[in-house]
Amino acid sequence: MEIIIQENYAAISQQAAAVVADAVRSRPGTVLGLATGSTPLGLYQELIRLHREENLDFSQVTTFNLDEYVGLPADHPQSYHYFMHENLFRHINVPAENIHIPDGTTSDCPAFCESYEERIASSGGIDLQILGIGSDGHIAFNEPGSSLVSRTRVETLARQTIEDNARFFASADDVPVHAITMGVGTILDARKIILLANGANKSSAVAAAAEGPVSSKCTASALQNHPDTSFFLDTEAASQLQMADE
Ligand code: PGA
Repeated sequence: MEIIIQENYAAISQQAAAVVADAVRSRPGTVLGLATGSTPLGLYQELIRLHREENLDFSQVTTFNLDEYVGLPADHPQSYHYFMHENLFRHINVPAENIHIPDGTTSDCPAFCESYEERIASSGGIDLQILGIGSDGHIAFNEPGSSLVSRTRVETLARQTIEDNARFFASADDVPVHAITMGVGTILDARKIILLANGANKSSAVAAAAEGPVSSKCTASALQNHPDTSFFLDTEAASQLQMADE
């Protein structure tokens, strides 16, 4: 994998946005895999700026989001549907019918998960997948112990993830316990992957992902087996990498 270290969050956001913009310009019908969380916010702001000021056109783009909390309707302020609408989709021109986010209110999760995989496949597969990383090394909601060949399914959130995400809810007790998530295997099928991480609280997960053994203890480590993955890191997130000392 390629490791790109920048001095701050703004720089990684801008550089990652340039990769997305290049993909969309060179292939207008590109299929993007999108992530939620604090990490991609700067990247999304830059894409919005490129759309407004430089006519970056998303009218033929298709998107698939990684995950959604089970039990939260699309209009819940902490749902990932709401997050994506507020922080990206309402500011750019991806057609609504091209946007795919797992349905946290489905009455039949297994059937929904299977159909989500089928929709990704029938769109031609994900060309460019954007990822953050959890402090426990998860990608999407593939918590430690998840199979590295897993597909879209319901996952139980790890305690660490519930604690990390409690900042968005009234209390940790309000964080949903389950999520629908693309699997590690689903993610690895993307043709190109960019993972962004900033801040010291991600440094041990980043080191385990990039330099540790490939292990379900850190599901991001599976990216070592992907042929076209780049990590965009700020200096704090990169601070525990051995290669950073060389
Ligand atoms: P964060 O979450 O971007 O809010 O830190 C990342 C993740 O859990 O994948």
